[in-house]
Formats: sequence, structure tokens, C-alpha cells
Amino acid sequence: MRMQLQWLTFAFAATVLTACGGSSGSDDGNASSSSSSSSSSSSSSSSSSSSSSSSSSSMSSSSEGPIAIEPDFDLYATTPSDFPVGVAVSAANDGYSIFTHSDASQRQDVIIRHFSQLTAGNIMKMSYLHPTENTFTFGDADELVGFAASNGMTVHGHALVWHSDYQVPGFMKSYQGDFAAMLTNHVTGVVDHFKTDYPGVVTSWDVVNEAVDQGAADGFRRSVFYNELPPVADGEIPEYIKVAFQAARDTDPSIDLYYNDYDNTANSTRLAKTLAIAEALDNQGIIDGVGFQMHIYMDYPSLNDFKNAFQQVVDMGLKVKVTELDIAVVNPYEAGTPALPEYDEQLTARQKKRFCEVAKVYVDTVPENQRGGFTVWGLTDDESWLMDQFANAAGADYEDVWPLLFNADLSAKPALQGVADAFRGQGCD
Ligand code: XIL
Repeated sequence: MRMQLQWLTFAFAATVLTACGGSSGSDDGNASSSSSSSSSSSSSSSSSSSSSSSSSSSMSSSSEGPIAIEPDFDLYATTPSDFPVGVAVSAANDGYSIFTHSDASQRQDVIIRHFSQLTAGNIMKMSYLHPTENTFTFGDADELVGFAASNGMTVHGHALVWHSDYQVPGFMKSYQGDFAAMLTNHVTGVVDHFKTDYPGVVTSWDVVNEAVDQGAADGFRRSVFYNELPPVADGEIPEYIKVAFQAARDTDPSIDLYYNDYDNTANSTRLAKTLAIAEALDNQGIIDGVGFQMHIYMDYPSLNDFKNAFQQVVDMGLKVKVTELDIAVVNPYEAGTPALPEYDEQLTARQKKRFCEVAKVYVDTVPENQRGGFTVWGLTDDESWLMDQFANAAGADYEDVWPLLFNADLSAKPALQGVADAFRGQGCD
């Protein structure tokens, strides 16, 4: 609906520009430690210039505020095919809620303009939707899904099963009955609600999130789900994963079902486990794609790592979805915990190039009919989860790591231009 309309608008605008002699681009933790030591900081400064290839957005001066562009495009309308371009959003009473934050309506405007899909950063996780065995609480999620629906956007559901302690419902942690039946009831209850009340809006789900643990003997995380429903035999994937996917498939065969995990590109052990899960589910016909979280850094993982990982999923005939992209400008897991760099024109230009290259690998590697979408994990730099994550996991107290596409004041960063350039096939330099 919205996508087609916007495409027409975009095509019309492009035609007008061309007819006028203008050019189409005229104006415009869980992450692992990095072993990469190479730096390209001095080799990419050219991309900050407005005269570089495709980027002619006007850029504001850094001395007057954040380095920003004024895009003449709507990001999602720059896609070479109709794959969703998503953003994780805060809702309900979250700190940066698009409904209650002091700049909520401006946040909504930016989201509606540039994105075609939403993921709830928190409020569609297990404990929010299903706090006690006989209670489902959909009010907050309904507000978000309703917002998406009324603005022509879809929603990627996140996540039906995830081990993270803060959002596993208490009743599941001490469940005494038939765990498989309970899990089936959970998945069925959630998927059915959105299928029934918002037909065609929640088009996909992360059915299971982060089941891999490279430290475990068989590579699978020892969660409450694993403990209750482990693999039935050596070499099998945990039974709970199959139960959850089967329940989702049975409830709504029309939506795409994803297995989602982190650090599954450069880390070959984690990638292999991810692929093993996907293959086992694919053999039963109950998975549609693999989600790559992609909480990444400026120099790690490499573009080849992304290409290789995406390609292996493509070769299985499944969809590839970038589910949670952010690119921190500092990697706290590097030796010595690097100091916060200055976020200057040179660094914003390098980050623009990095975003562009990642988006380019995605569209270059994944065929149109296997593109599940491309989602960034948050709207503005200041709302990113990474500062807390780095403090907790790496003891790094960074005031900001500038990982997203918009500045705190909601102005667009050069990185936004980088993604658009890649989607339009215009190169990254
Ligand atoms: C994060 C949220 O962004 C934070 O607000 C919350 O405190 C913790 O969870 N991988 C995932 C997401 O799959 O659900 C996580 O989201 C980030 C890592």
C-alpha cells in the first residue's frame, strides 16, 4: 500500500528532476570482541565532501551543532526493490517513546518519512505480552502496531522466545506443567492476536532470538527453554526451537518466521550454529529466514564476513534480514578499551561510508526475492542501547558512540545518505 504509493511518488519526482536536467540524487552485546586492528581512518576522508559521487545533500557545519544533512529522499523509497526498511522504536513508557517523549510527534514524523517497517525495541518481548500464564497484555503493542497500520507501515515482531532474564515471564521460569504445551500456547496466543486484529501488519516474527552460545558444549545456550526442552538426540537442535516455530507456522502460515542471532557473521562458530538451526527448521518447512542483528563496528567485521554469511543463507533458499543494525564508532572490546574518539567531519564521513558499504553488501549479495529487510536498532544516537551495553559488558563509560542514522536533535546524519546511496546503486566513495 504505502510502499507502492511512495514508489510512484519517488518515480514521479525522479522523472521531474530528470526532465529538468537534474540528477536523481541531486539534493540532498552482545557484540563480540574485535580482533581487527586495521584502521582506515585516513583513507576515507573524501566521502565527507558534498562533491563526492552521489551525495549532494546540503550539510550543516559542525561548529553550529551536529553534523547533519538535509535529505531530499525518503530512505525507504530509495530501495531497489520493495524490501522493508525498518527502525526499532521505543513505545509505551520507554525513555524515548514515540508516544510520550517530549519530541514524540517529531520522532513520529521522521519515522513515517524514512521507514516502512517498525520493530518494537522492547514492548513486544515475552514478559510484556504474556506476564502471567492466563494473561496476555496487548495494550502497549496495539498502540504501536496500530500506529504502524495507520501510517502504512508493517511491523517485524520481536521476539516470541528470548532467554534474556528481564523479559522471560516469571511463570515460565518455574513452570510445573507441560512446557511444550505452554510454549505453544504462548506463541499461538501472541501470533494469533496480531493476525486477527491487524491483518497484514505484523508480517514477520523473530520466533527465537539468540539460542546460540559458543561456550556451551553443544553450542546451544542453556536457557530455561533449553533446560525444559533440550535436543532429543545428539546432533539435533533444541526441541523448544522446533516447538516455537511449529506453533508460529500453524497459527499464521502467511507470515515470515526468522531465527535471529548476534555475532553470526565473522564468528564462524556462531555462524555455523545459526546455519544448523536454520537448516533443521528448513527441513521441516517451518522457517523463512535468518536475522542478522549486526551490532557492529567501523572496522569489524569485514565486508567479506557479511557477504559470506549472507551468501550461505541465500544458498539455502532462505531470506536474509538485517534486524538490528548499529555501527558504533568505537569498539570497547578492543585491547585497552579505546578512548572515545572525536565525532568530527572525518569520522562522520567514515561512518557514512561504512553504512553505505554494509547496505551495498546486502543488496549486492541477497537477491530481491530473498531480501527480508534492513532495520536499524533505534532512531537517534542518544537513545541507543549501546552505551548501557558497553558499560555493563565491557566496563566502558562512553557518553555516546553515535551508532545510528539520526542525531539527537533528529537531524539526519551523513550515514543516512550512505545507506540511500547504496540502495540506489551509487557507490560508497
Ligand atoms: C535491547 C533493547 O534495545 C534495550 O532497550 C533493552 O534494555 C535490552 O534489549 N539484541 C536483541 C534486542 O535482540 O532485543 C536487544 O534490545 C539488543 C540486543
